[in-house]
Amino acid sequence: MNSKYLINKAIEAQKNSKSKYSNFAVGCALLSIDDQVIFGTNIESAAYPSTICAERSAIYSAISSGITKFKAIAIVSPVKAKPCGQCRQVMHEYVGNIPIYISDEKGEEIETHYIKDLLPHPFG
Ligand code: THU
Repeated sequence: MNSKYLINKAIEAQKNSKSKYSNFAVGCALLSIDDQVIFGTNIESAAYPSTICAERSAIYSAISSGITKFKAIAIVSPVKAKPCGQCRQVMHEYVGNIPIYISDEKGEEIETHYIKDLLPHPFG
């Protein structure tokens, strides 16, 4: 399974976004070591801080299903956004230093990053 495959899954997840307050839809696809794809999307709430990002949505869903080892993660958004600070922390703790594929919602240009670079000197 290549980066394009996983980015396309993130694009599918992005379609489920509930982001009427920000109008910023994010999709995430997390690939487990046994090739299961776990979807995540951002879900916003009228009580704004209750919002959850696409990345943590996918990570928490995977862990809730007992899936705890991962090979890669893909994230799409309108502007190829990098994960927020909270998601970086959770990725550091629960996902590990796997390739993080990032693209816009067309999925044409894919960047690859690693949490070691996105979150230097992590806590914990
Ligand atoms: N968002 C994510 O889903 N992932 C990130 O890493 C950054 C931000 C979401 C949260 C909110 O629903 C919207 O994008 C605007 O911040």
